[in-house]
Amino acid sequence: MTEQHDNESPARERLVIAVDGPAASGKGTIARALASHFKLPHMDTGMLYRAVALNLWRWGGDMASEFEALRACDVAAVDPVDPELRSEPVSSIASRISAYPSVRAALLERQRQFAGQPGGAVLDGRDIGTVVAPGADAKLFVTAAAEVRAQRRVRELLGRGLPAHYDDVLIDIRARDERDMKRAAAPLAQAADAMLLDTSELDVDAAIAEAVRLVEERLAVHHGLG
Ligand code: CDP
Repeated sequence: MTEQHDNESPARERLVIAVDGPAASGKGTIARALASHFKLPHMDTGMLYRAVALNLWRWGGDMASEFEALRACDVAAVDPVDPELRSEPVSSIASRISAYPSVRAALLERQRQFAGQPGGAVLDGRDIGTVVAPGADAKLFVTAAAEVRAQRRVRELLGRGLPAHYDDVLIDIRARDERDMKRAAAPLAQAADAMLLDTSELDVDAAIAEAVRLVEERLAVHHGLG
């Protein structure tokens, strides 16, 4: 059955938007804004890796052991608003355990199911456009210079009343980039069909406006309006 849609507002049965990018690039803020703009549910997939890290940390498990990290993958009991999820030790453990193929495999189905729900969804992470939802309707790769990302992370940490030193944060961001890009399992990479959005010189509002524009442009092309 073919449906007719008017050109002003092409009706879509489902819309999946993949937002990937390195630490503190602004991908989470952009993904949340896209979800609200397109009225879609949103999943911050980094939270799954953080939840595994929090479990492991609380159990006193060894992050150097893939087996122990895998045992920590039962994340159903983790409170999604637990402030420890964003703490420094948990962030650092998350960055390491996310390199384990068995941990990634254990978290994959939950992400695919979220992406596959009837109306679609927005997911943000590192491998959404490449592994979790390779067939996404629109893919954004959000990035920014490491120095800009470090400044943003310092502001975010200070805003939450946590100590933060620019030099240490910059070193940490570079180390995380290196681990994300060099790991063998689902490394951070721009999908061939992803649109690049560099937010180095954009404030939050401008970055969101550009993301919405890029996605709408891509959807218009899909509908033969471009
Ligand atoms: O924004 P930030 O990079 O600080 O953290 P996040 O997006 O919450 O992700 C936490 C960790 O999980 C990162 O260090 C990534 O290495 C990892 N991650 C991943 O490997 N794959 C994803 N789809 C999402 C996050």
